Formats: sequence, structure tokens, C-alpha cells
Amino acid sequence: MIVAPKRTEIHPKERRMILKHADDPNYDTSIDCYMRHGGYEVLKKALAMKPEEVQDHVMKAGIRGRGGAGFPAGMKWKFLDRKSGKPIYLICNADESEPGTFKDRQIMHKDPHQLVEGMMIAAWATNTAKAFIYIREEMPHGALILEQAIEEARAKGFVGDNIGGSGYSCDLIVHRGAAAYICGEETGLIESLEGKRAYPRIKPPYFPAALGLYMCPTIVNNVETLCHVKHAVDMGGDEYAKLGTPNNSGTRIWSLSGHVQRPGYYELENGKHTYGELIYDIGGGLKPGRSLLAVIPGGSSSKVWRAGDRFKGKNRDGSEYDWGIEDVPLNFDGPAAAGSMSGSGAVIVVDDSVDIVDVLANINAFYAHESCGQCTPCREGSLWMKKITSRMAAGQARVEDVDLLASIGDQIAGRTICAHGEACAWPTQSFVAKFRDKFIERAQRQAASGTGETRLI
Ligand SMILES: Cc1cc2nc3c(=O)[nH]c(=O)nc-3n(C[C@H](O)[C@H](O)[C@H](O)COP(=O)(O)O)c2cc1C
Ligand code: SF4
Repeated sequence: MIVAPKRTEIHPKERRMILKHADDPNYDTSIDCYMRHGGYEVLKKALAMKPEEVQDHVMKAGIRGRGGAGFPAGMKWKFLDRKSGKPIYLICNADESEPGTFKDRQIMHKDPHQLVEGMMIAAWATNTAKAFIYIREEMPHGALILEQAIEEARAKGFVGDNIGGSGYSCDLIVHRGAAAYICGEETGLIESLEGKRAYPRIKPPYFPAALGLYMCPTIVNNVETLCHVKHAVDMGGDEYAKLGTPNNSGTRIWSLSGHVQRPGYYELENGKHTYGELIYDIGGGLKPGRSLLAVIPGGSSSKVWRAGDRFKGKNRDGSEYDWGIEDVPLNFDGPAAAGSMSGSGAVIVVDDSVDIVDVLANINAFYAHESCGQCTPCREGSLWMKKITSRMAAGQARVEDVDLLASIGDQIAGRTICAHGEACAWPTQSFVAKFRDKFIERAQRQAASGTGETRLI
């Protein structure tokens, strides 16, 4: 079976908690190995507590979702509609579909029992009747590894009937996804899990905590988030909250890619480091002779930063900040304060070896392909943006394309059923706003060299 390769060199700035054992050459995915390292002891500890106590630890720990929106997990669990009397479902979102993101697969491929344990603790805390791992179709080995781990855990009594002799029963099922980006959006995922096309549902009323899987209360959490649940209960919520920085507790796994010398996944204490440290120190900096053009700070849907950008504003305590890209704290709130988001934790570095128009053309091709087609602004707008940037990349840029692109982007964001609308609009809106001169320059250059007619392709 092919598994993700181990990375034995751990950067000294890393604070490995979730990936503590993952890259140890002597660590494997078997339950025996996991239990030799203390595995399933935290589940036993959780089962000895009341579900409310476990929830309390997660709340106090301040775990924020690692899937994209950074919503506090404990608060999401509190929103569960318990009065309906319907069964409660727990779904682990293992779709990992945002371009640039490759952290959840490290956990699933190298330490699957950590996820299983985190899920069973979350299941106990929320009184879940049945739990699912919805894994992306393109990760077949991850699915096999997880299935094997669940079988082993079931045989030892940690999954299934009468877990750990507690009287509580909950099965855990691996479901292979439908190989589309939109299957990662939680309501699209739920539709897909129900056996239908992954058409996202409109919120309200279809908030999963009230009307989720089979119209029952449902929690959807990311792989990394659910692993943090284990550590919050192990350490105790208050102790866990001391890791990282206020409102940004714990550690976080960043996927660093693009034009850096050492791309890879790095687990760091939240907010204790900056984008500059990640790119230049941990990531080894740019390739020789190159200079920075742009940084996409949180997955391809996040708003781009241009080299030389400055971000000014007021901190919560009233003090002022004035950051360059390299000063932005690596956490949830830092990128947001700098006009973008940490999203799925995928940092994409772009140097001056590429043309920024080509970068956007590439991103737009992806989002146009992945629109589910339910909403006109997203379906049509993403396609128009793709057509325009593809035409520009093919040598037929027009100066007026810049305003046209901006106006299409402006008419998508905020006008759709799900956040794919923003995901496809934000790159265009931000690239055009930040690199207007480069887009115009390219159009003028192409016009001057007389490169053919200007038509939509
Ligand atoms: C278009 C789109 C794609 C998404 N893809 C993923 C994904 O692949 N994995 C993921 O965990 N969350 C993804 N999300 C976010 C989920 O909808 C949801 O917020 C998340 O799974 C909740 O988990 P968390 O609170 O633990 O972060 C996506 C959202 C959108 C709008
Ligand atoms: S925003 Fe796009 S992906 Fe989301 S429901 Fe509408 S058409 Fe589908």
C-alpha cells in the first residue's frame, strides 16, 4: 500500500502535537503502535466524564475549526438541536479539496487512530448516534488505512457497541467522496453522503446543527479539528488554551507550497510565528535570484497579497499595527486583519518567474470547473471570469478586461447559496485590485504586438 512519505527533518520552530508521531520512521498505523504511545487512554478518560464536561473542555480550549471558517468547535456543538429528539450525526470532513492544502492527509495516512479517537470523544460529547468520515475520492489509500484502523478499534471495543464498557454505542463509517470540490462544503457533503448530487443547501434553514444529514441534527468538523478535541480533553481545556495566542489557541498545520525552497507541512503554535518566518526561515525562502511577487495566505480562494503591501489597523486592545506581509501573525485573526483569511492554512508563494495573469487564469479555471451550477451568479460568473482570464493568458488581453473582471466578481460575492460564490470571486476581485497595473500592462503589451482578434474563447 502506498502511504505518504515520512519527513524526518522537523524544523526546530515546529511545535508538533497533532503530527507528534506521524513522521517517526518507527511509528506505524496499527492500533498496537498507537496504544504503545498511549492511544485510546483519552477516550477512556472522556467516557468517565459526563458528555457536558467533555464539551466544556472543548469550549474552554477555544478550538477553532481548521477546515476554513475558523468557527469555534465548542460553540458549534452547543447549537445542536437536542429538542427535536432525532438522532444526532457526526461527520468528519476529510475532503481536503482547497487547492494548496495537504495537511489532513498527513494525519489520515500516518496516524489514523488519532482521528478515530478524536471522533469517538466528539461522538460521546455530542451523543452522536452514528459517525462518518467523508473522505475525498482521490485519496483511496487514506480510505483503506482508515477502514483498517476502524476495524482494529472496533475489535478492541473503542468503536461500535458498548464503547469501553460504558454502555454508549456509536458506529463509525468511512464514506468515499464524489471527487468534486463542492463536496467539501458541508451541506454539499451532506447531500452527497445521502447519495445525491452535492448541491449545497441554503442556510437558513439548513444549518447542519438543526437540519443536517437526513434532516437530523449534525456536526461537521474537519479532520484536524477533531484531532484537537483529543488533545483538549487530554490536557484539559484551560491548559490547552494556553497554547498559542488569545482567541487563536493550540497549534495549526500549515501547508506551504509554491516558489519556496522547502515546501511542506509545518505544525506551529498558533500566532507565535509570522508569515515571514514561515516563508523565509522555515520554508527556506525564495529560489536564488528570485523576488517575491505575491502570497496567497489561506488556500487559493483567499484574497491575494502583493509584495510590498502594508496592512494597518487597530488591535483588540486599541494599539495600532502596521504590518508588511512578513509581519502578519500566522493564526486565524492575523490574515483577517490584513484583508484576507487563513482559510484552510494553505500558504502559496508566488515569485517573479510567473505572470500574475497566468496565476489568476489557473485559479479561475479551477473554480469555474467546480461550480455546482445551482446559482446563476456563480455558474455564469465563474465561467465568464475563466473565459476572460484564459483569453488574456492566450495573448488576447484587452485593457477593459480589468474593469469587466472586477464587475463580474462584485456581482457574485454575497449573492449565492454557498460560499463557493466568494471562493470564486475573491481571487479575481483581489488580483485585479492589487495588480491592476500588471493586468493593464499585459493588455497594452499584447495590443502593441498585434496578437490577433479579441473574442471570448
Ligand atoms: C466550497 C467550499 C469547499 C470546502 N471544502 C472543505 C474541505 O475540503 N474540507 C473542510 O474541512 N472544510 C471545507 N469547507 C468548509 C466546510 O463547509 C465546513 O465549514 C468545515 O468542514 C467545518 O469544519 P471545521 O469547523 O472543523 O472547520 C469548504 C467550504 C466551502 C464553501
Ligand atoms: S455558490 Fe456556486 S457552488 Fe455554491 S450552490 Fe451556488 S452555484 Fe453551487
